[in-house]
Amino acid sequence: MLRPRERTTISPYFPVGGPVPAADLVGREPYLRRLVDRLEDGNHVIVAGPRRIGKTSIILEALRRLKRRGAHTGYVDCLGATDIRGLGERLADATLQNLSGVERSFEQAKAIASGMHPTVKVKYEHIELALQLARETNTQRFFEGALDLPHALAKRTGKRVVMVFDEFQAAGRLGPRVFDVMRTRFQAQRGVSYAFLGSEQGILEELFSEKGHAFYRFAVPLDLTDAGGHRFGIDPDDWLEYLRAKFAAKRLSIDDASVDRLLDATGGHPQDTMQVCAALYYLMRDSGARTVTPDFLEVAYEQAMRELERPFALHWSELGSHKYLQQVAKRIAHRAVLYAADGEGGSVPRPEVLRALAALQERGLAVRLGRGRYDFVEPMFGEYVRRLDEGLLATAIVPRR
Ligand SMILES: Nc1ncnc2c1ncn2[C@@H]1O[C@H](COP(=O)(O)OP(=O)(O)OP(=O)(O)O)[C@@H](O)[C@H]1O
Ligand SMILES: [Mg+2]
Repeated sequence: MLRPRERTTISPYFPVGGPVPAADLVGREPYLRRLVDRLEDGNHVIVAGPRRIGKTSIILEALRRLKRRGAHTGYVDCLGATDIRGLGERLADATLQNLSGVERSFEQAKAIASGMHPTVKVKYEHIELALQLARETNTQRFFEGALDLPHALAKRTGKRVVMVFDEFQAAGRLGPRVFDVMRTRFQAQRGVSYAFLGSEQGILEELFSEKGHAFYRFAVPLDLTDAGGHRFGIDPDDWLEYLRAKFAAKRLSIDDASVDRLLDATGGHPQDTMQVCAALYYLMRDSGARTVTPDFLEVAYEQAMRELERPFALHWSELGSHKYLQQVAKRIAHRAVLYAADGEGGSVPRPEVLRALAALQERGLAVRLGRGRYDFVEPMFGEYVRRLDEGLLATAIVPRR
């Protein structure tokens, strides 16, 4: 268990991509408290939001806290499974790990079920819960048995179990009735709280809030993107405090105006902001400079932009699979009239524009600001789209704007 002082220790770099340690989780304290309370009270929750805003980081920290308070916890990434047996095995592993302390304990259960001796690391009682399951050859029954394991753990230990399904929308692609089966098993269970995370907001909203869908009203939505009324749910003052302390720990300084400029450029999008910070840090370190200047910031921004090209290009090519999406995205990027019949890039029928706008919002790429006014969720993605037209992305060094 971590002591309070260790929890606040500043980590040595700006983490970019993947879950961040507690000390680098900026501005999420109020949200985390709500999340932990809900789960501890036995509520199921849903945390939906656009890509790379920190969903996984938050839930992993929530699990660490819940564990410290005595709960059993587990984390399953649905994107990693290719069929329902795979998903079931992941769930079994996540559940058993609480008893064995060892990852992939279900392998051991299978070995023992087939008559082999367990390794010293895993004892019989650590995996006993899953022995029957390990012998199950019928895929559907196996899946259903795995879905009951968290409940079996809660019953056996008398502790609350908190189980997370990350990228939950992906589970629906593993078979025709996966969601229905899951709901049926989960709703009969006591002592288990489930958290569902996902980046495909449209699919999740439908699944959890539309009548007739499998998880209708099953979980409490905890809005992350707008928490506390801040963009991406993070108070800019929290960024200021974090960045000051982080740079100071490296004997570097950054003033308020630079932080403002930085947040202006990234819109405060968590990963984009961290990406620029990481670039800025290495730039300063390499040049031996001690104080952040607008020039450093500008160069760091360009560096981060190059690093973000890959994820942005993926978004962009996905938009290419639908008629008009790229065209409408370009109009947003250039602040052009959205409904122009003959705007740049040809004519788009009005109903198609509306459809495209809805699709861009559903994907978490665009937000509506007001009548006929839209913007990208990530300002840096907007900049990427503008530069596509200017042909700037192909050049190695991007000129100053
Ligand atoms: N609260 C935060 N403070 C600082 N940085 C953050 C925060 N949240 C996210 N980040 C940055 O975003 C990156 C991605 O975080 P994380 O993987 O938790 O997001 P996610 O929403 O789960 O992303 P994905 O959609 O790819 O699953 C982190 O590596 C970090 O750079
Ligand atoms: Mg994630």
